[in-house]
Amino acid sequence: MRLDKFLAESGIGTRKDVRTYIKDGMVKVNGKVIIKPAIDIEENRDIILYLDKVVKHIGKVYYMFHKPKGCITARRDESQKTVLDYFSKENMKGIFHVGRLDKDTEGLLLLTNDGEFEHGLMCPNKHVHKKYYFCALGSLDENDIKKLEEGVLIGKGKILTKPAKIKVEKIGTCEDFQEHMGIEKFSKKDLGLYRQPVVSGYLTISEGRKHQVKRMLKAVGCFVVYLKRVSIGNVFLDETLEKGEYRFLTDSEVQMLSMM
Ligand code: URA
Repeated sequence: MRLDKFLAESGIGTRKDVRTYIKDGMVKVNGKVIIKPAIDIEENRDIILYLDKVVKHIGKVYYMFHKPKGCITARRDESQKTVLDYFSKENMKGIFHVGRLDKDTEGLLLLTNDGEFEHGLMCPNKHVHKKYYFCALGSLDENDIKKLEEGVLIGKGKILTKPAKIKVEKIGTCEDFQEHMGIEKFSKKDLGLYRQPVVSGYLTISEGRKHQVKRMLKAVGCFVVYLKRVSIGNVFLDETLEKGEYRFLTDSEVQMLSMM
């Protein structure tokens, strides 16, 4: 196995981090400083030291995390809570998030130390399906649904969004969606707003453009007030996970995601 892969899979840092550590002379193989990240080591025989401490190989790990709102999808941040803050020190070693969710989006986020797995899911020409539950101020008629399914313009570019699937679940007013409305933020006396139409449903997309779901719905006149990712490919958020909890992916989940 390559030295940089071994170190990344041992929780020392991301593949990029460990290459820097190796080039900076922080890594020894059988007592000798090695500065080439690509050299082959035998993980069961060679003794690898990082900053003169023996490195134990953890292997590849894959987590499903139920992201709550209010944390950012980053490894660390000076001032804001990140998704990694929910992981124990032991479990967070060397892992990184697969894609991103906005700070106010909840739901399924995958984390791993396996760069190939991440690349496979993020590669734009793989068109991995991601399904989101949304709740939005506004309404969707047949024409809007057709537009969302066929492609809308988001942002300044002239590139339409790729074909998407949409399923409207419920139509009502703010009152009917209080749990997703942060209703205390609205003045309850403001009956005009309270009677605003609200629509909820599922939007499945196969791209990962910035704020894509919010911008797609905005393109048809809807303002997203709640967003949750419920699935990636055939892997669904485990609803027994409370917000902020995580678990290992099962072997079959890893397999399904690796075959995408
Ligand atoms: N689309 C969005 O608008 N936000 C997310 O967090 C994910 C997809």
